[in-house]
Amino acid sequence: MAEPRENLNELISEAAVNKRVKEIAADISQKYNDETPILIGILNGSFIFCADLMRAMDIDCEIDFIKVSSYTGTESKGTVRLRKDISADITNRHVIIVEDIIDSGLTIKFIRDRMQEAGPKSVAIVTLLLKPDIAKLDFDIEWVGFEIPPDFVVGYGLDYDQKLRNLKGVYCLEALESE
Ligand code: IMP
Ligand code: MG
Repeated sequence: MAEPRENLNELISEAAVNKRVKEIAADISQKYNDETPILIGILNGSFIFCADLMRAMDIDCEIDFIKVSSYTGTESKGTVRLRKDISADITNRHVIIVEDIIDSGLTIKFIRDRMQEAGPKSVAIVTLLLKPDIAKLDFDIEWVGFEIPPDFVVGYGLDYDQKLRNLKGVYCLEALESE
């Protein structure tokens, strides 16, 4: 098999990602004006999106991170495990969960349920990417950057076996599908 880095097809350009992140940040800033929301980034995939989103916001905001795992390679294992919890007290806070991608929806449901148990004032979700053909959700996602086809993607924080996160756009890893 060729190297994953040689099998990339651009799906969303760096410029398109950056433009959309700024749009979402402006919308969040407007909605939470005077509220000081706390962003909860889901590690590892959302760290770049979190950083860019937060820098593009022009209101007071805080950040914390939670780490879960459900994937190895390109396969979801179907169960979500907590690897690192948040340290902040989110009781009575406006929480915005920041995800890189919603695929099956299992991860975001697990984290949303967990945040709601802590008694926040509100919980909203922002995801850069959503695979609508796969995701099964019984709640709303307030901000979706891009809806994408059900292919495995990398870049802008998303990995294939921990690599390719540093690509600036989003790419399909097509040749690996038939592995
Ligand atoms: P879900 O639980 O099936 O919705 O998957 C969510 C998590 O799986 C995301 O937070 C990603 O870390 C990972 N994931 C899902 N689809 C992809 C993909 O296409 N590329 C890279 N990671 C993915
Ligand atoms: Mg993730």
